[in-house]
Amino acid sequence: MAKPVFEGVTVIDHPLVQHKLTIMRDKRTPTAEFRQLLREIATLLCYEVTRDLEMTTTPIETPLAEMRAPTLAGKKLVFASVLRAGNGLLEGMLDLVPAARVAHIGLYRDPKTLVAVEYYFKAPEDLADRLTIVVDPMLATANSAVAAVDRLKERGAKDIRFVCLLAVPEGIERFRGAHPDVPIYTASIDEKLNEKGYIVPGLGDAGDRMYGTK
Ligand code: PRP
Ligand code: URA
Repeated sequence: MAKPVFEGVTVIDHPLVQHKLTIMRDKRTPTAEFRQLLREIATLLCYEVTRDLEMTTTPIETPLAEMRAPTLAGKKLVFASVLRAGNGLLEGMLDLVPAARVAHIGLYRDPKTLVAVEYYFKAPEDLADRLTIVVDPMLATANSAVAAVDRLKERGAKDIRFVCLLAVPEGIERFRGAHPDVPIYTASIDEKLNEKGYIVPGLGDAGDRMYGTK
């Protein structure tokens, strides 16, 4: 069951999520398995982040009877993937909500300053009318997450949620300070950042582990 820990933060401590996350953290886990696990965990995170979506009923006819059956109502979704590693979560989210629109936000961390540098942005025009779910596996300094949400808000997004795999207290505080209206969903809150801005114990560089780069 998902538990709120910090104000505005939900930790999804489902056994399947935690088991898969442990395998992802293990440095011996190869690229293909890492990517597959990220996709699988994303479906479980998606289940939680969409738990309170508005519902309505629609008249249908089963082979036996007429009925009013539950269907989604309210705002349409857009998943906003923070490149590169966000794409791993995006795939799993789209497995569950294939009709969602997708935004891509290309950001990389300058390795010296850890400032997020934007190199790409493409999003649907009607962000103001949609629920925007931002996906990025790592919330470290939060520079990337804050920059991504800044850009989405500039483009009109108002109803935003942020989903990651790992967060640290420093990143949570910075993100919630900048965007107190955006709730965070994470599979774990790890201990700290190291001197290079990596999450400890963490899982390493998510993009490199997903794509076998370095
Ligand atoms: C990683 C990760 C986040 C960011 C988190 O991306 O996917 O976007 O770092 O760190 P922050 O909270 O300190 O900003 P990275 O910059 O390594 O780019 P990549 O996904 O292209 O490898
Ligand atoms: N980005 C990553 O990919 N890993 C970290 O630990 C921190 C930022």
